[in-house]
Amino acid sequence: MDFFLVVLSYFIGNISFAYLITKYKMKEDIRNFGSGNAGTTNVLRVLGKKYAALVLLGDVLKGAVPVILANAFAGMDITVMLCGLAVIAGHNWPALMGFRGGKGIATSIGVFLVYDPFVASVCLGLGIVLIVITRYVSLGSISGMALLPVVTYLAYGADLRLVFALIISVFSVYRHRSNIVRLIQGNENKLGQKKI
Ligand code: G3P
Repeated sequence: MDFFLVVLSYFIGNISFAYLITKYKMKEDIRNFGSGNAGTTNVLRVLGKKYAALVLLGDVLKGAVPVILANAFAGMDITVMLCGLAVIAGHNWPALMGFRGGKGIATSIGVFLVYDPFVASVCLGLGIVLIVITRYVSLGSISGMALLPVVTYLAYGADLRLVFALIISVFSVYRHRSNIVRLIQGNENKLGQKKI
C-alpha cells in the first residue's frame, strides 16, 4: 500500500496545470514560451492573472492531496514524507512530459501546508514579502524555500523532518539555477514584465 501511494503521488505530480491550461487556451506548449517553465509565473506572463491563479491553485492542491492521502492511509510515518517528495519530483521531472516540468514551488507549498502549516506559513510569508518588495518571483521562491530547513530546525531541532525540508529546499534551489544566474547578472524578469 505504501509503495503504491508513493508511485501514485509521483504521477499526481505529473499532472501539469500550466501545461494543460495553456494547451487548452492556446493549443501551445507553455514550455516554448517565456522562461520555458511549466508553472504559475510563466502562465502569468503568457496568459495573465486569471489563468495563473488557476495554475497556482491546481499545483498547491496537487501537492496537498498526496500528503492528505498518505496521512490517512500510509502504514509508516516516512511514507508521508516520501509521498511529499514524490509529488514534487513528479511535478519537476514528469515522465509523462519528457521529464521537463516546473520548479516545484506551488507544489511544495501544498505539501508543506499540510505537513507542517506553521513552518510553511512562516516561509510562505517571507517569500511573499520578498516578491512584493523586489517584484522578483524567483527571489521570493528561492528565499522562502531556502528558509524551510532553517525554520524546521529552529522549531524541532535535527530530526527526520529536517532531512525532508532540506531535500525539498535543495530541489527548489536546483530548479532555479537559470533564475539564480539571471538574478546575479541583473537580467531576471520582474513581475509585470511581459518577456525575459
Ligand atoms: O516558481 C517559479 C518562479 O520562481 C520563477 O518562474 O518562470 O520566472 O522561471 P520563472
